[in-house]
Amino acid sequence: STILVLHGPNLNMLGTREPDVYGYETLNDIDDRLKQAAAAQGHHLMHLQSNAEYELIERVHEARAEGVDYLIINPAAFTHTSIALRDAVLASGIPFIEVHLSNVHAREPFRHHSYFSDIAEGVICGLGSQGYDLALQAALQRIQR
Ligand code: DQA
Repeated sequence: STILVLHGPNLNMLGTREPDVYGYETLNDIDDRLKQAAAAQGHHLMHLQSNAEYELIERVHEARAEGVDYLIINPAAFTHTSIALRDAVLASGIPFIEVHLSNVHAREPFRHHSYFSDIAEGVICGLGSQGYDLALQAALQRIQR
């Protein structure tokens, strides 16, 4: 099966961006680890980071056409703003887990609302990059059911 990991705006800055909040690992480190973990279990993992809302939306449209089985999404700041990306994910009908590196509930009030959480199968936040690993583990189990 195929899993697509989507990373929203500014996550290309991981490693140097507010490391006390987001950690010292780079996005490449995380993506490589996820790819290996998926491959080790016989699955294919793709990933995209974009700072542009429309690119993420179009990637979700393609994912539907490609028959992607599961999405892992960190919409970053689009979490709190993007009805358009929410609608794209809904339209795709692909199940997904929402991931945030930081504990958004312990931060500014504007980060407490998500346009994704009510339509996600699950939400993981506050565990740093481990959240992606846990999301992948859950996604693979759910695909196999
Ligand atoms: C984030 C949390 C968001 O509020 C923020 O805009 C991000 C990253 C996280 O992974 O903790 O860019 O999604």
